[in-house]
Amino acid sequence: MGKLRLGVLASGRGSNLQAIMDAAATGKIEAEVAVVISDNEGAFALERARRAGIPAEFVDPEAFSSKEEYEKAIVALLQRYGTGLVCLAGYMRMVGKVMLDAFWNKIINIHPALLPSFPGLHGQEQAWKHGVKYSGCTVHFVDEGMDTGPIIIQAVVPVYDDDTADTLSARILEQEHRIYPEAIRLFAGGKLKITGRKVSWEKGTGPLSHS
Ligand code: GRF
Repeated sequence: MGKLRLGVLASGRGSNLQAIMDAAATGKIEAEVAVVISDNEGAFALERARRAGIPAEFVDPEAFSSKEEYEKAIVALLQRYGTGLVCLAGYMRMVGKVMLDAFWNKIINIHPALLPSFPGLHGQEQAWKHGVKYSGCTVHFVDEGMDTGPIIIQAVVPVYDDDTADTLSARILEQEHRIYPEAIRLFAGGKLKITGRKVSWEKGTGPLSHS
């Protein structure tokens, strides 16, 4: 069986993409990044892909008459590269029906808060402003909602009195880089089972068995 082929969608700096590429390169995950796609021509994520010799594709949303047409182009690209799992890594758009239909339960996202708390933009800052004592990050399947899909894995970090939104974000980011590859590892092993909102894995294969 060939390795799982990942299509990564990113709009910005791409540090999670980097963590995924590194995990693939060192064999920590049975997967390879087949293509990186961005809606932002200047995204550093595209540069990271090029440096790693991975196809980097900019798809300009402005060049399409509708979101549907734009997503059809993304789906065509993903399919051309034989994508088995789509990883959103700082992709700043809501995924629409066209992509969801084409890759149902095959799109995952990382969010910088403990969902269902603080969905949407700037989850770290929302949590910090709210005064929570713990926050973290979540990898989840993508559905029609804003950060609402079934949760695969989460990591928790403490919030300290002298934290700023930035220091908290940095602490969370470190965990993002750990759990995103871990979620891909579980998916790649075919170990994840979705039952309603619940995601479970075969005994002995989950993140708790790898601490
Ligand atoms: C991360 O904080 C991720 O949780 C959120 O967007 C940010 C992307 O950062 N979805 P990077 O581009 O991976 O560095």
